[in-house]
Amino acid sequence: MVDLNHRPPACKAGALTPELIALGNAAPHRRGHGSGHRLYKALASPTGASPPYRVYAGLRSRDATGTVGQPSQQSAAPAQAVSDTKVGVVRLTYVAARKGEPPRTILSEVTFSVPQARIFTVLGPSGSGKSTLLRCINRLLEPTSGSVLLDGQPVSGLPVQELRRRVGMVFQTPALFDGTVLDNVLYGPRLRKEAAAVEPASARELACGLLHRVGLPEDLSDKSVAELSGGEAQRVSLARALANRPEVLLLDEPTASLDPSASMRVERHLLQLADETDLTFIFVTHNLEQARRIGDEALLLMDGRVVEQGPLRELMSDPEKETTRLFLEGKL
Ligand SMILES: Nc1ncnc2c1ncn2[C@@H]1O[C@H](COP(=O)(O)OP(=O)(O)OP(=O)(O)O)[C@@H](O)[C@H]1O
Ligand SMILES: [Mg+2]
Repeated sequence: MVDLNHRPPACKAGALTPELIALGNAAPHRRGHGSGHRLYKALASPTGASPPYRVYAGLRSRDATGTVGQPSQQSAAPAQAVSDTKVGVVRLTYVAARKGEPPRTILSEVTFSVPQARIFTVLGPSGSGKSTLLRCINRLLEPTSGSVLLDGQPVSGLPVQELRRRVGMVFQTPALFDGTVLDNVLYGPRLRKEAAAVEPASARELACGLLHRVGLPEDLSDKSVAELSGGEAQRVSLARALANRPEVLLLDEPTASLDPSASMRVERHLLQLADETDLTFIFVTHNLEQARRIGDEALLLMDGRVVEQGPLRELMSDPEKETTRLFLEGKL
């Protein structure tokens, strides 16, 4: 049932939710001229108007349903850019050990690769290990064995602060801490003591640019998060993740707790981000229609194992595996 009165839970400042753990370890961004910098420039646009450039604009063009079309004539980026592996997951195994329970293998030798600047959709029935997988990618959970590679480098070798800045996460339920929208959105940059997020005038400009990026009005920035609707709160969570200028965004069913119209609005802004930036998305969803609308690539996870990976449309219309077909028909 749709809960139109849903209010996001507000955390006490300092409460260590996974969201804040994920955000709180953000480290200074040193690259300066990479993709994150370009995205940051767009986000910090004072007017919040159309970003000053479109990254890979010629390579990625979607119709209203999210279909990725043919490269346009103006394509300037190298064709291989979109096929580069951004995140590689190699024989990842996660064995959970709950106190008083025998160890349980949640992910078993999961291997796949996520192309750069795409929306990579992870599908699978409840309990198949999707959230565990996302948490292993940004090390909210430490895998028992195997490796996760970011731009070919094992994430286990990265300072966790750098990893959490480069790989952002948005959870199913927006967990914002008590305070204003601006405080929440600028949480990461302020933690890193970035001048633009500390000095009042530039902080407001930065926050407004981020809010605009997710389709929220600038005057929301002074509002208490307790006054937000569920859909607004989720978009604030997204803006907060973007404030860290991530290269990869992990999205764990970010619209599952929203009503259909709020969900569509979040989807629309995700698609816009995918079109206008070179962010790589790993998007977990239960909703096959949503996956069809926004996904480029898909992976089906079942009982902690990869069943099939491929271009989303092919996987959905002509799956190789019988298990995939049964899943898509709702028979599993
Ligand atoms: N620490 C843990 N100890 C034991 N079992 C765990 C632990 N964490 C998760 N699990 C179990 O692992 C399985 C996978 O959980 P996970 O949350 O990753 O599934 P999911 O695919 O995200 O499910 P859903 O679609 O319902 O969100 C579940 O059966 C869950 O109960
Ligand atoms: Mg889950």
